[in-house]
Amino acid sequence: MNKIISLHDSIKNILDLTNIRLNMEKIFKGSFISEDLLEKQKISSGSFGTIFLIEKNSKNYIKKKPIAHNKDDLKAAKTDAIISALLSSVQELYLENKAIICPKIYAINKEQENSQKIYSIYMEKYEGDIFNMFCAINLNDIDKIKLVIQMLLQISNILLLLQDSFKFMHNDLKANNILYYRPDKTKPITSNNITFIISDFGGSNIEINNKKIEGFIMGNQYNFDKGKDIFLLIHIIITFQISKYKKMVTNFFETIFDSIDLKYCKKNDDIWHQLYQMDNYPDEFHPSNILNKINKLQLE
Ligand SMILES: Nc1ncnc2c1ncn2[C@@H]1O[C@H](COP(=O)(O)OP(=O)(O)O)[C@@H](O)[C@H]1O
Ligand SMILES: [Mg+2]
Repeated sequence: MNKIISLHDSIKNILDLTNIRLNMEKIFKGSFISEDLLEKQKISSGSFGTIFLIEKNSKNYIKKKPIAHNKDDLKAAKTDAIISALLSSVQELYLENKAIICPKIYAINKEQENSQKIYSIYMEKYEGDIFNMFCAINLNDIDKIKLVIQMLLQISNILLLLQDSFKFMHNDLKANNILYYRPDKTKPITSNNITFIISDFGGSNIEINNKKIEGFIMGNQYNFDKGKDIFLLIHIIITFQISKYKKMVTNFFETIFDSIDLKYCKKNDDIWHQLYQMDNYPDEFHPSNILNKINKLQLE
């Protein structure tokens, strides 16, 4: 998984914004959308949007259609569309066949609904999100430990690349917003046969060409802070861990990180919401520090 680290140095100097913009325009024109598209089923329906399984030429895809209750939701949905298209373009133009970091986007469709403009996103279908896998994770099993480390490694690599290229902050990096697939579908999930990607960019921030693009989520108005996303992720995994494994998972993260703060891991009072609103986040959660830590772990 050192592939993204090395890419990250090579990609920095070759990112061509004109090229990226052209690719994004292609996605926004949406020639992918045609009469052959078949809506098969609703996969999830939250208060902010609906996820549909769709089919075209016998292949499955995902359509994410936002529900906008107010101006903030509209802003989040628009940002989700723009950042999804941007990151997918970067992936397609500069990373293809080397690394997958985010969903592949086929089209964004501007739709008029209740006199509002909403943006539906058509994307590749992956196997699912990692919530169930990571909220009941038995770390007595060494293979599960390897899986957690693999996830941290891949996600840190993705964040490192995007933070350095675009001052990217996801701002809502929960297990439900990390998708996965097995590169080899004939084999089970192991730490060597799983790819993790990040998705759901409605609360994210990026900076491109000195222009800021900001989504909407409580807390995303805070400053660029490289430690925030993984600090959030680890505390949220502890928060939502089933009680049987909670102690073990907490202990495990405490052996890796000195500044795990269990006061943010109380689900009942929704204290974990405060995770979004801290002024700054401990240095050891910066992706490059995490990669250093993991490299040391593996040497031992
Ligand atoms: N491309 C995809 N492939 C597979 N499952 C997906 C995909 N996109 C979304 N999902 C599923 O739908 C859920 C909600 O999608 P998400 O983009 O996070 O929207 P929301 O804004 O409702 O959280 C995800 O947690 C995941 O389980
Ligand atoms: Mg989500």
